[in-house]
Amino acid sequence: MNTYTSSIWTTAEAVRSATPLEHNPACDVCVVGGGIAGLTTAYLLLKEGKRVVVLDAKPAVASGETEFTTAHLAWYNDDSFTHLASVRGDDVARAAAASHRGAIDLIEQIVRDEKIDCDFERVEGVLFPGADGPGELNDEEKTMTRLGLEFRRDRLAFPGGQTVDALRFPAHGRFHPIKYLAKLTAAIRDRGGVIHTNTVVEKVRGGDPCKVTTTHGHSVSAAAVVVATNNPFEAGTPMHNKVAAYTTYALAAEIPKGAYPGGLLWDTEDPYHYVRVQPGGTHDYLVVGGEDHKTGQADDQPQRWDRLLAWTKERFPQAGAVKHHWSGQVFETPDGLGFIGLAPWNGPNVFMVTGDSGMGMTHGTLAGRLLADLVQGRPNELAAVYSPSRLVPAALKTLLGENLNMAAQFTDWLTGGDVKRAEDIPPGHGAVIRSGLTKLAVYKDEKGVLTTLSAVCPHMGCIVRWNPGETTWDCPCHGSRFKADGTCVHGPATYNMKPAEGKG
Ligand SMILES: Cc1cc2nc3c(=O)[nH]c(=O)nc-3n(C[C@H](O)[C@H](O)[C@H](O)COP(=O)(O)OP(=O)(O)OC[C@H]3O[C@@H](n4cnc5c(N)ncnc54)[C@H](O)[C@@H]3O)c2cc1C
Ligand code: FES
Repeated sequence: MNTYTSSIWTTAEAVRSATPLEHNPACDVCVVGGGIAGLTTAYLLLKEGKRVVVLDAKPAVASGETEFTTAHLAWYNDDSFTHLASVRGDDVARAAAASHRGAIDLIEQIVRDEKIDCDFERVEGVLFPGADGPGELNDEEKTMTRLGLEFRRDRLAFPGGQTVDALRFPAHGRFHPIKYLAKLTAAIRDRGGVIHTNTVVEKVRGGDPCKVTTTHGHSVSAAAVVVATNNPFEAGTPMHNKVAAYTTYALAAEIPKGAYPGGLLWDTEDPYHYVRVQPGGTHDYLVVGGEDHKTGQADDQPQRWDRLLAWTKERFPQAGAVKHHWSGQVFETPDGLGFIGLAPWNGPNVFMVTGDSGMGMTHGTLAGRLLADLVQGRPNELAAVYSPSRLVPAALKTLLGENLNMAAQFTDWLTGGDVKRAEDIPPGHGAVIRSGLTKLAVYKDEKGVLTTLSAVCPHMGCIVRWNPGETTWDCPCHGSRFKADGTCVHGPATYNMKPAEGKG
């Protein structure tokens, strides 16, 4: 399965595209980033009569990580309530459960209000033990009982014959994220919201007003700015030391209707597997994810989909042709909760959301509600729970581990290359080659034509690595990703990779 990949949702829309920013408007709130977080924030602010401008780097909104999601709508915490309660306490764990549950309710309400046909459905969440045994399941049962959260212990039967213990959580959900966001985008425009795509923002300065500047030299002046770019893009922000980029893999296989036990499934392994069904016409799609690793720190990407498929076939022998397979990134935080609130770096009136922790559908949605309050100076009891400035001493070990890993990536400057010469690169592949004191990222296309770029990431100078699964250059430091020709497809980098010196 090592051809270029496509997400199950990509067939959806052209409706999302817009034109680049080519003037210097003023507004109440400028939202940078048109994924689920930015679009939800924009929609809620417009409903309150604010003048909103949304800027997005890509040709269409909802084509960042949101396009690569598997769209579980969960209030069960991805990193476990046992972990969350141990590092933040029981009250924060309860508030997290309630706020993610509230996010699913909000999506349901928006679906109803805007009459959105997006396959929204309430389903159960189901946690079951993986190869790691029943320890985590038992711990979760104890913790959730103590916290007073709703669940029941039960059994889960796979079509492959295995039956396992499981915890079941009510009131989760699933939907088609792109159908949902296409209509949300239309609702934003109907309420007077302005969207500019193909518009890369490189600077946000807080103040009264704030100023948002694009790489093409245009600017928006706004009373407040919301940076909803999935990962903050400005070099040197302290947030780069607080979130860690992980690549996660997904596939969608045809499955006969009714062959699936239902619900959103997750096991307790690390990395874990996640499963849901997406209804289709004559058959359904089984959508399975997992095999996570730190971005840019693996070289067996194609094999990860193969392992995912083997795992799937064992439990769902009816799974047929794999129609889509893809990967994307999630941004983990030390405690498993997003950073949503006043940005701790750009000065006054700049707000942010990052650190989806694999729950970006609900984090992005609850961010919309929280930020709509904070932007307008209204208190919100979740402000401290999600504060980007929070310190979590109990999670210091995790934070230090991630930061040491990040620092270690800079030693790539000192090592040799993947290969010695371009002749050693097989067609259709890329490799890093040492050239004197620096390194080159060399891609050889199927016809043998070479593209030679500087391997230095334009964000903060780490050395990128070749991803044979997606044919991209991935940065192991903060998760920037580039096509084989160096075009930036995911920030924080705001610029493409540079041609190698003397090559253009
Ligand atoms: C395989 C996979 C499975 C997942 N499964 C789930 C799941 O089941 N449930 C769940 O809740 N979450 C899941 N997630 C996570 C979730 O998809 C993401 O967290 C979420 O989509 C992020 O939304 P966002 O709006 O924060 O960011 P994005 O959708 O990435 O949007 C950010 C936008 O900002 C724009 N941007 C970036 N930099 C700039 C700049 N400098 N200037 C202008 N614009 C810029 C980008 O173009 C992009 O459109 C999954 C992720 C992956 C990859
Ligand atoms: S150095 Fe930050 S993403 Fe590459």
